[in-house]
Amino acid sequence: MGRTIVIVGGQWGDEGKGKIVDFLTEKAEIVARYSGGANAGHTVIVGEKKFTFHLLPSGIIHPGKLCILGNGMVINPETLLEEIDVLKQKGYFVGEHNLAISGNAHVVTKEHIALDKKEGGAIGTTFRGIGPCYTDKIARRGIRVNEFIKQKNDFAALVRPFVKDTYRLANQAISQGQNVLIEGAQGTLLDIDHGTYPYVTSSNPTAGGACTGLGIGPTKINAVSGVFKAYVTRVGYGPFPSELGSAKETEDEAKEEALSQEDILRANRGKEYFIGKVLRKQGREYGTTTGRARRCGWFDAIAGKYAVNINGLSSLIITKLDVLSRLKILKICVAYEIDGKKTTAFPSDMEQFAKAKPVYQELPGWDKELTGVKTFEELPSAAQAYLKRIEGLLGVPIAIVSVGPERGETVFLRPDEFF
Ligand code: GDP
Ligand code: IMO
Ligand code: MG
Repeated sequence: MGRTIVIVGGQWGDEGKGKIVDFLTEKAEIVARYSGGANAGHTVIVGEKKFTFHLLPSGIIHPGKLCILGNGMVINPETLLEEIDVLKQKGYFVGEHNLAISGNAHVVTKEHIALDKKEGGAIGTTFRGIGPCYTDKIARRGIRVNEFIKQKNDFAALVRPFVKDTYRLANQAISQGQNVLIEGAQGTLLDIDHGTYPYVTSSNPTAGGACTGLGIGPTKINAVSGVFKAYVTRVGYGPFPSELGSAKETEDEAKEEALSQEDILRANRGKEYFIGKVLRKQGREYGTTTGRARRCGWFDAIAGKYAVNINGLSSLIITKLDVLSRLKILKICVAYEIDGKKTTAFPSDMEQFAKAKPVYQELPGWDKELTGVKTFEELPSAAQAYLKRIEGLLGVPIAIVSVGPERGETVFLRPDEFF
């Protein structure tokens, strides 16, 4: 029996979904995206090679896999063709044999991008035309890929061969017992329905979106795994209770490559801004799509538990644990204080959420670099305790721990959760 597994972002995006999907692709026959568009930036690092995917699923560099762009996506044909070209230059050929695009996906136009540039600034969007394109889709005046490819121009001719009935390919694969890996983009807290509205994207990156965005039924999904950083980052505006230091990074700091000993000392003296700086520099927290510095904060278990519920997560994937090394004390947000009252429930009223102050539990950190760690037992005991605490708070087992950006820098705790 094959399995169909959804990988979703558990936070505000950039959790490392690309790395994890690449890691899991080996045993899948199909890798599919279902929502969003080129607002996504998924990084895959294999040896010396670095890939950044915006529209193509992260499985595309694996030979013999079929990659699908589902009907729930919004696709800019120019960006897609550029992405295909960049891969070709690196020696990876994308053709009808390994890429299928849904004719019912919507097309992002120049007008969408212009409108996003005009109006998206207040939210801090990626300016990829995402909001305006989904607006036209919902208003029933959008252009779908099926119509786009009937136009007489070069872009249309280049996209045409890829267009297939992708719902059929996905369902056939499932009924034939193949393994299907579904790659979420964005994250739970950016979901148009469940995220921190209006500071969200315009689609449903949560697990339900995988069904509508690909045309497969909920009964076909065997497992949903949520990717979380060992801390939290956010790009764009909007409330972020566990954010470390609200001060913006200065231009000089942005240019600094490495972290100084001084910065670490300041962080370990409890200076919030410098703890944030340690995370930003050690984690290279600069956006894949926009290059913007990401806002950094402590792991938020209240938002994490919310993501468990919204997605029905069956397992957790914790990435970037290595980035926490050298911090003497780590904190986890275990409750919010809202209007003087403590709560462990994630409020669905965003006015309440904007007022949430974090209540922290402190845990000891570790000094050891985690590069090269392959098993849970090899992790420092403080890192083991930190992971166990997250597992306890979220109530779902951790299946994978990532300790570096490279494919192999991965601790695979529960292979049985996947294929
Ligand atoms: P995605 O959008 O969820 O695919 O994540 P991004 O690719 O936008 O951002 C994650 C960043 O962290 C990328 O630069 C990855 O190469 C990097 N990364 C992923 N996992 C790890 C990890 O475990 N440790 C470190 N240090 N970097 C990681
Ligand atoms: P991946 O897939 C992080 C954020 C933007 C902005 C908000 C709305 O790489 O995790 P949009 O352009 O979608 O209208 O912007 O959503 N955002 C992301 N943040 N990772 C992403 O994708 C994002 N996609 C959108 O920064 O705050
Ligand atoms: Mg990203």
